[in-house]
Amino acid sequence: MCGIVGFIGNVDAKEILLKGLEKLEYRGYDSAGIAVQTGEGVKVFKEKGRIADLRAIVDAGVVANTGIGHTRWATHGEPSRENAHPHQSTTERFTLVHNGVIENYLQLKREYLVDVSFNSETDTEIIVQLIEKWVNDGLSVEDAFRKTLTLLHGSYALALLDRENDETIFVAKNKSPLLVGLGDTFNVVASDALAMLQVTDQFVELMDKEVVIVTKDSIQIQKLDGEVVERAPFTAELDASDIEKGTYPHYMLKEIDEQPVVMRKIIQAYQDDAGELTIDPEIVATLNMSDRIYIIAAGTSYHAGLVGKEFIEKMAKVPVEVHVASEFAYNTPLLSENPLFIFISQSGETADSRACLVHVKELGHPALTITNVPGSTLSREADFTLLLHAGPEIAVASTKAYTAQLGVLSILAFVTGKARGLDIEIDLVQELGIIANAMEVLCDDKEEVEYIAREYLSVTRNAFFIGRGLDYYVGLEGALKLKEISYIQAEGFAGGELKHGTIALIENGTPVIALATQPKVNLNLRGNVKEVVARGAHACIISMKGLEDEDDRVVLPEVNEVLTPLISVVPLQLLAYYAALHRGCDVDKPRNLAKSVTVE
Ligand code: AGP
Repeated sequence: MCGIVGFIGNVDAKEILLKGLEKLEYRGYDSAGIAVQTGEGVKVFKEKGRIADLRAIVDAGVVANTGIGHTRWATHGEPSRENAHPHQSTTERFTLVHNGVIENYLQLKREYLVDVSFNSETDTEIIVQLIEKWVNDGLSVEDAFRKTLTLLHGSYALALLDRENDETIFVAKNKSPLLVGLGDTFNVVASDALAMLQVTDQFVELMDKEVVIVTKDSIQIQKLDGEVVERAPFTAELDASDIEKGTYPHYMLKEIDEQPVVMRKIIQAYQDDAGELTIDPEIVATLNMSDRIYIIAAGTSYHAGLVGKEFIEKMAKVPVEVHVASEFAYNTPLLSENPLFIFISQSGETADSRACLVHVKELGHPALTITNVPGSTLSREADFTLLLHAGPEIAVASTKAYTAQLGVLSILAFVTGKARGLDIEIDLVQELGIIANAMEVLCDDKEEVEYIAREYLSVTRNAFFIGRGLDYYVGLEGALKLKEISYIQAEGFAGGELKHGTIALIENGTPVIALATQPKVNLNLRGNVKEVVARGAHACIISMKGLEDEDDRVVLPEVNEVLTPLISVVPLQLLAYYAALHRGCDVDKPRNLAKSVTVE
């Protein structure tokens, strides 16, 4: 989703801003721009399309030591040059970039800016026009900035330039992530530390409704009322090589291949000195005290939640409900007396999930976040955090975060079950080790899946994924992967449900990918496959060793029945990858999508 960078120092800012924006490309965007302070005022360069298009129009002759930049994912107004950020006030004195959504922008426009002529359809432009209005009315820039912020309803991360003051970037945040980074002779602003790792690994976290006055030598954090806040920096524990593709053609393929290593990292991270799996005892105690768990998540993380429900109910024997975040916040079901909320989010920044967390905290219930990003909003605002240890996930299509979520959820379920004195027969350390090995086998031999993708998915307009039990949940994830990067209309269904309606869609040649890894329902599922084949479907069965039939196209190595989603998803991820590749799609940056969805 939208990204912000800013630089103020002694060297040319242009290349640092552009490189920073390139690091944010993975988040999804449709236009980009930078603004730099020059001796002759602020110069804005912005363009619809990719950063490469922006680079092409940036005047290399302009030298500037201060600037801000933005990648935009359209919310208010179509993707266009006019709607791209930065936006300027009427006199071009003020220049602003903004992440987030201002809910009352039309009201503010009507109330204060009727005489102003606007250049864009964005909510952002009203912010910069309001600042100019208050300055014209006699306020100092700082006071005008602050006054504007008090009028805004919604989410924002902002960086502002003032033509009359080339020694300051004005920054503010509410509900949208924003960091300030520190250097010896410069300071930076970034919505994601990744963007500015090129120049520093020292960052200061900002809280909601804080303002920061950033110069090249100092940063001053203030609350909205002007009270100064002191906060120590943290070191971003990121390895710059983690965010490079290396020899891989796409981040998605690299991240699929990283899954065995991530699984082994997770085992290590959650083992104590004696080699036993362990979870913060406070989390386990809270879980033990709760009468029901509510898992809240979106997209792939929601699919992980569905599998997590099975893990927790089977191993810890606590009832679990799984909810789509965007529905839960505004349509809260009747809650149990002692609920525990688990938020699953790769990024830890998903606005839909955050809205639920705010609601849950208002109700006074405990919350645990399972995330890949330490210090993310959902992590900071929940009572507890469990980390995924998956390393940065750059491709928009989530792969290693999903299997990491399943790994951590299985450990949580296992440790809680043990703490409850339940008789859990499996040795989870060993089973997850087997999972890591099985993942490796699948990642090492991609040829057959590539072939299946070519045979089944190169020209089709739709595809179905079917399964029963855990396989059904994995099918949902397989379908999501396929549609988001290959644009094939794909749906996941419970095998037995097809005959209640969806089977009407089966035509000659319709691809049906069937998962058959669950012994209890293996025959039923194979019966469902026969039903679709009888109606012309082109079926591809992915089964597991011990359950396989002669014609199955992929036979997964044998793993513990409960943990099968951790490996059965791998061929589906690869299927989506190769289908997208064969169809000429932009695998890592699918159209219309953002990596981190920071608007509701
Ligand atoms: C997955 O491939 C998607 N990009 C998307 O569904 C994602 O899982 C969803 O937006 C939730 O993101 P989160 O895990 O960062 O909260």
